[in-house]
Amino acid sequence: MITTSSRYAPTRRVFDTPAAAAVAAADVVTKLVAERDQPVITFPTGSTMEGLYAELRRRVTEEKLELDQVRGIQLDEYVGVDDETPESFRAWLSDRLLRPAGLDRFLRLPSLAPTPESLGSYEASLAALGGVDLAILGIGGNGHIAFNEPGSPADSRTRVVQLNARTQEANRRYWGDPTAVPSEAVSQGIGTIMEARAILLIATGPAKAGILADAFEGPITTEVPASILRGHPNVTVITDTDAAAKLRG
Ligand code: GLP
Repeated sequence: MITTSSRYAPTRRVFDTPAAAAVAAADVVTKLVAERDQPVITFPTGSTMEGLYAELRRRVTEEKLELDQVRGIQLDEYVGVDDETPESFRAWLSDRLLRPAGLDRFLRLPSLAPTPESLGSYEASLAALGGVDLAILGIGGNGHIAFNEPGSPADSRTRVVQLNARTQEANRRYWGDPTAVPSEAVSQGIGTIMEARAILLIATGPAKAGILADAFEGPITTEVPASILRGHPNVTVITDTDAAAKLRG
């Protein structure tokens, strides 16, 4: 699927520093939590999210922000990991957000040994929650969202995906044994992500500048999965000035 024009124009908000971007992203979460009972929020992993989760933890301890009513949704995970795997996305997120925020209603992906049935029941559980109010996303250096690598269909559902060499390399730093990075993951599909009522994509740092311009000003193509987001009517992109450096509009 390749078109050159955008059906919708995502809201872009550019901040001087990653810390200011994190505060703005935390404001989006805080506002949703204030407005909605039991909001359903998809939480990603990745270094980009460190600032957001630190700011949310700060608000929980210092400003009495309550996240215990939030229904958290897992976005992606390695295949073959369980609760004992310290490198799992679940463990990463538990340390930084779920445990400190008392957020214990969390829909996990069936990552240990995913089957069509268990993946289908994850999607059914999402639907039973009434769908996602806010999907928070990062962006991979190759434009992936969650673990939807280039070429992933725009209507893909939650499934097992192969990680390409570039993504495995980018994730090597998280693994004690760098040769142990799994080659497969489970990921919400692009179609699943697109059903969220609102999407917040966060990108910081100069390494994301090129891919951000490709995603939001280049052709809409499955070769740059994040570009598909321009078919969604309610997308906000929060960046720092470094990540926004190659955006023209
Ligand atoms: C991983 C995750 C993505 C994340 C991306 C960017 O591959 N599966 O969900 O958006 O990396 O990570 P970082 O923020 O570390 O650049």
